[in-house]
Amino acid sequence: MVTKPRLYSGMQPSADSLQIGNYIGALMQWRDLQQTYDAFFSVVDLHALTQPNDPAELRAKTRRTAAQYIAAGIEPSRSTLYVQSHVRAHAELAWILSTLTGFGEAGRMTQFKDKSQRYGAEATSVGLFTYPVLMAADILLYQTDIVPVGDDQKQHVELTRTLAERFNARYGETFHVPMPVIQQDTARIYDLQNPTSKMSKSAESDAGVLWLLDDPKVSAKKIMRAVTDSEGSVRYDRENKPGVSNLLVIYAALTGRQIPAIEDEYAGRGYGDFKKGLAEVVVAEFGPVRERALELLDDPAELDRVLATNAARADAVADRTLADVYDKMGLLRRV
Ligand code: TYM
Repeated sequence: MVTKPRLYSGMQPSADSLQIGNYIGALMQWRDLQQTYDAFFSVVDLHALTQPNDPAELRAKTRRTAAQYIAAGIEPSRSTLYVQSHVRAHAELAWILSTLTGFGEAGRMTQFKDKSQRYGAEATSVGLFTYPVLMAADILLYQTDIVPVGDDQKQHVELTRTLAERFNARYGETFHVPMPVIQQDTARIYDLQNPTSKMSKSAESDAGVLWLLDDPKVSAKKIMRAVTDSEGSVRYDRENKPGVSNLLVIYAALTGRQIPAIEDEYAGRGYGDFKKGLAEVVVAEFGPVRERALELLDDPAELDRVLATNAARADAVADRTLADVYDKMGLLRRV
């Protein structure tokens, strides 16, 4: 039997809906790659605990995130789609890897530096500091070959590689060393109101974020109000025209067209026409995804059942890796 190479990726259930950056930067790749890879996709609820959460809301957001994966085309019969906390090995391997991670090494993670600066030392948890170590555990448990992510996760995947290599060197060949896969053109989708900042689920203002589960009319309005410039020509120029360039990237990603062809189509026409065109594209893409996600959420028991079946599949793989790790490190086997 030829085994397929393995893929791992995940998203935090940190909002009621995913945003279009998650969709273009990650989900679209996941959907394609699941055809050729043995893919594992998790909803990383343990990671989401690094922010304050209302328990009932966290449960709801976890289901909503899983429903959006499926609605966007992840097939739970083909790919292993599960909730991180359902597989206990994640927390256990994270502990093991934390003993191999340098304090300074973890402190150099850009996301940690940004967030801890924003929150202040007292409000920054140790969990936020060790967040990338848990992410490394996610990836390494499954002997992963590739990790498709947006560009903000690259440094975390690099740390994962370092930890895998360090473990292998100390204790013998145990982990596959994974490669990040980042789609250069769409690795970073920017906020519509602030097109030099990354679009984010935790953005301060809602006006610049396109949510997958938003009413399509609301998304269309946000596009019509997106920040552009005074030049008036639809042309890609990241430096000088970040707003228009971001809209062009979104347009191209969702239609599979090349940016120059879109520039040609809108040559000599104003931003109003271009935005209207993009709004139509976005509504056509997300309308059905939203409907399907809401349908799935109408039957939470069925969704929970799918997640449980998949968690059992994940458990089997993860337990094998963890047992090997414990053995290699000299932890006494329970007989
Ligand atoms: P998260 O939940 O922040 O984002 C999920 C995925 O979406 C990508 N992304 C973007 N891509 C392009 N433009 C944007 N504006 C944008 N915003 C987000 C992210 O790069 C990511 O691929 N730590 C991870 C979750 C995680 C994980 C893992 C990922 C936990 N364990 C193991 C891969 C493998 C995170 O917080 O992603």
